[in-house]
Amino acid sequence: MIKIKDSFSQTPPPLGGGARGANLIIKNASQVVTCSDFKAKKGKEMNDLSVIENGTVVITKGIISFVGKDIDMPFIDDIDSYEIIDAAGKALLPGFIDSHTHLIFGGYREEEFSWRMRGDSYMSIMERGGGIHNTMNATRKASFEELAEAGKKRLDNMLRLGVTTVEGKSGYGMDKATELKQLEVMKYLNENHLVDIVGTFMGAHATPAEYKGREDDFIDYMIREVMPEVKEKDLAEFCDIFTEKNVFDIEQSRRYLTAARELGFKLKIHADEIVTLGGAELAAEMKATSADHLLQASDNGIKALADNDVVATLLPCTAFSLKEHYARGRYMIDSGCAVALATDLNPGSSFTSSIPLTITIACIYMQLSPEEAVNALTINAAAAVGRADKIGSIDVGKQGDLVLLQFPSYKFLPYHISMNIVETVIKNGKII
Ligand code: NIG
Ligand code: FE
Repeated sequence: MIKIKDSFSQTPPPLGGGARGANLIIKNASQVVTCSDFKAKKGKEMNDLSVIENGTVVITKGIISFVGKDIDMPFIDDIDSYEIIDAAGKALLPGFIDSHTHLIFGGYREEEFSWRMRGDSYMSIMERGGGIHNTMNATRKASFEELAEAGKKRLDNMLRLGVTTVEGKSGYGMDKATELKQLEVMKYLNENHLVDIVGTFMGAHATPAEYKGREDDFIDYMIREVMPEVKEKDLAEFCDIFTEKNVFDIEQSRRYLTAARELGFKLKIHADEIVTLGGAELAAEMKATSADHLLQASDNGIKALADNDVVATLLPCTAFSLKEHYARGRYMIDSGCAVALATDLNPGSSFTSSIPLTITIACIYMQLSPEEAVNALTINAAAAVGRADKIGSIDVGKQGDLVLLQFPSYKFLPYHISMNIVETVIKNGKII
């Protein structure tokens, strides 16, 4: 097995945030797609990308210090300390944010994929002990090093696709030791990999065999024994739960989320994925940061999300992989919601970190415009991880996390189907 130290020797040294970032000028980009904002864009606002043609961006010590037309670039007296990229013919965007993933897991579920192609449903596989339980067993057995090594490779792939921040959930432990192990792996990777990781505790992902039929006791165990330790060790910013028929009902979810909020966690919910259970309404009631999946969200639930500023995070690759119909992205935006897009990377329902496929499916099947899809993966995804003040747009004062495309327009993103058209990734002002 590869030792952690050796495996990271190829990785550039960790960045300590903006203060240790670099000086960089990206000149003459055919488009600087700023996505400018410091909060989620809702409804019609999602069509505005605030594009600057023939634009320049200056990053000073990792933080964006100028964005505007080339001709308006200010005089810089220590210009020799800046690296300069000529971006003629290329579009520059904020780094992508994958705001919903389960990136730390043991084992794989390729057999279950075959079963699903034969007609078995995702939930029926889970109910007979496979699915999330299958990955739980493999994750309990995996060592810290094995999980970190696999996680590092997944992060490397994401970075190549232009992802500069990712949210990652626990939830394949469902016991204290393994939940903490998953979160500690994410903390370690956050400190040793260029991609920033936002940790989410998802102890209530399913009920393990030892608690079968005693879901309330399991929720109590998570609330009393696990959640406080996650908080005390500062291993997660968010708490999440799989609110679903035959998983956790609305009352159990409310109890778990209330306890999480009292401890100071921000909230997320896997809501209304398979059946209409009222998860969107619960997310609004709890003032969650985001409600995710939402394939079966009701009209009232969607209105409640819009009214309560809950980001609706849609996961097109999951619906694609499960052959479900897609969440009603167009309707949600027309109803005034802030929509974010994410991959849901996990070994079961969406084994992909493909940002390109996510964008294309969102446009073709959820009827988002290319402009809405780009905002959904940048500023709105930043809002979904509680960081719209720091990342997700090209605004002065934000982290210098950017992607340069091989093409002159952001419109190539959904159009060049499933292709990675990111030419250069910039993290904290450093060219990767
Ligand atoms: O977001 N729906 C629940 N949880 C994950 C899937 C986890 C798994 O199948 O391993 C999801 O799709
Ligand atoms: Fe998920």
